[in-house]
Amino acid sequence: MLMPKRIAIFTDDPGWHGKQLCLAFNLRGYQAEYVSLTACRLAIAAHKFPVVIPGFEQELPAAVFVRGVPGGSLQEVVFYLDVLHALKLLGVPVYNDGRAIEKSVDKGMTSFLLHTQDIATPVTWVNRERDFILAVAEQELSEGRMLLTKPLFGSQGEGIRRLEKSSDLLWLTSSQGIYYLQRFVACAGHEFSDMRVFVINGQAVAGMWRKGVSWLNNVARGARCEALDISTAIAELAVKAAQCLEMDYAGIDIMLDQDEMPIVIEVNSIPAWKGLQSVTCVNVAQLMVDDLINRYLNPQQDHYDA
Ligand SMILES: Nc1ncnc2c1ncn2[C@@H]1O[C@H](COP(=O)(O)OP(=O)(O)O)[C@@H](O)[C@H]1O
Ligand SMILES: [Mg+2]
Repeated sequence: MLMPKRIAIFTDDPGWHGKQLCLAFNLRGYQAEYVSLTACRLAIAAHKFPVVIPGFEQELPAAVFVRGVPGGSLQEVVFYLDVLHALKLLGVPVYNDGRAIEKSVDKGMTSFLLHTQDIATPVTWVNRERDFILAVAEQELSEGRMLLTKPLFGSQGEGIRRLEKSSDLLWLTSSQGIYYLQRFVACAGHEFSDMRVFVINGQAVAGMWRKGVSWLNNVARGARCEALDISTAIAELAVKAAQCLEMDYAGIDIMLDQDEMPIVIEVNSIPAWKGLQSVTCVNVAQLMVDDLINRYLNPQQDHYDA
């Protein structure tokens, strides 16, 4: 059987990242094509192929690279994850797979998993009851701590609010019915900063400082990227966080608190790397593509043909 040499990149917005991935796949002799998860189908019927990916009707891709999972209703998101799970069950490598994406797309589950693996992460409450959250927030504020509320499925700093004083509780809102409340961690030093460490197959391959214009250090919110020399301790922490969520590759957000103790804020299963690429000399896309090909697409592996 001939090895299929075509890769599907799931994305609705290929842009710079899509191009980087295509180039990296081309360099390894693979052709990559962009596909939207919104256009995929499950077709459950006798003698029919059960997953239909536009452009791959005759033969499934050799692997899929997940660059984006669209938002939507719970049903839509579950369906997109179903497609990822189904592909994996059919023997198609999915990079990162549906389980890893599921665990990290939900900030509540990420916080829980980090905590249960003894990875330092901020004190967090997740629940449905407004009264409970208000009582916790009042207590915390009265003890002089600030808090953040975050949307459970948020990214790029969207929808994160800081509660600084009790009058801020007036506009405390849930994210689709669920409150995610977290202690604010004041960072070390005089600037606003956190670290983004990129982990691939259990190795911290690149990192950067993100220096925010305010306490929100996302690049999408205007944070400046600066080169970071990753210490052994930070590398180990980032690798442990990626492994805790079983990710092939991950972008780990780490803050240093005022005692310089590292705290894992977030583990991203679909991290962007444009800012990071501007301050590192390794080719991030190529490292991911090489890892995917070397570990999952060796010539001995059998593939499920349509
Ligand atoms: N508990 C916290 N204390 C202080 N700053 C935080 C905390 N949580 C998040 N931040 C800041 O907000 C940014 C975005 O938060 P994060 O949880 O990573 O959400 P997103 O998925 O939107 O990136 C972080 O990079 C960090 O700068
Ligand atoms: Mg983040």
